[in-house]
Amino acid sequence: MTRIILVGFMGAGKSKLGKKLARKLDVPFFDTDALIEQREKVTIGQLFKSKGEPYFREMEKQVIQEMASEDDFVLSVGGGLPCFGDLMNELNDLGTTIYLKHSSGILHQRLNNNKQNRPLILNLSDEELRAYIEHKLNEREVVYMKSKLILNTGEQSIDEIIRQYRLLQKS
Ligand code: S3P
Repeated sequence: MTRIILVGFMGAGKSKLGKKLARKLDVPFFDTDALIEQREKVTIGQLFKSKGEPYFREMEKQVIQEMASEDDFVLSVGGGLPCFGDLMNELNDLGTTIYLKHSSGILHQRLNNNKQNRPLILNLSDEELRAYIEHKLNEREVVYMKSKLILNTGEQSIDEIIRQYRLLQKS
């Protein structure tokens, strides 16, 4: 059974890395935002507007519960998902969690031109975005750090990440 779950802040590169890992390990790739969009037939931005954030968080919870019926996958989860309810513990029960760790400065650079379909930051100015990231990352990192593997991203190759994952499986 191969179950890898990528967690981290918006803009950390979870989906991009997740697709590469899944291809290399020859297992399906899933992304909680994409699963919710398929199910609701609207974008995340539209869903926040029409049904609100609490509804979205409820959907995230459902999606995680349903993943328990899949044997093999790489799953990228939305940046807020581990921080609601008991979901970080549920993720740790489900599979091997990997935190893609970046500084707030790097996240700011990456998110500044990438706000579309991210309703929580869509209307923030440059300075507001910087403050938002610093504040939220502080709050969320405590939760992300419960992951089984912490990656200072950009430093490891896919092969190295897989090696570290396999070492964890053996221990
Ligand atoms: C969110 C992160 C987004 C998406 C939603 C809320 C968050 O996912 O789930 O906009 O609360 O940080 P990404 O981390 O994939 O951008």
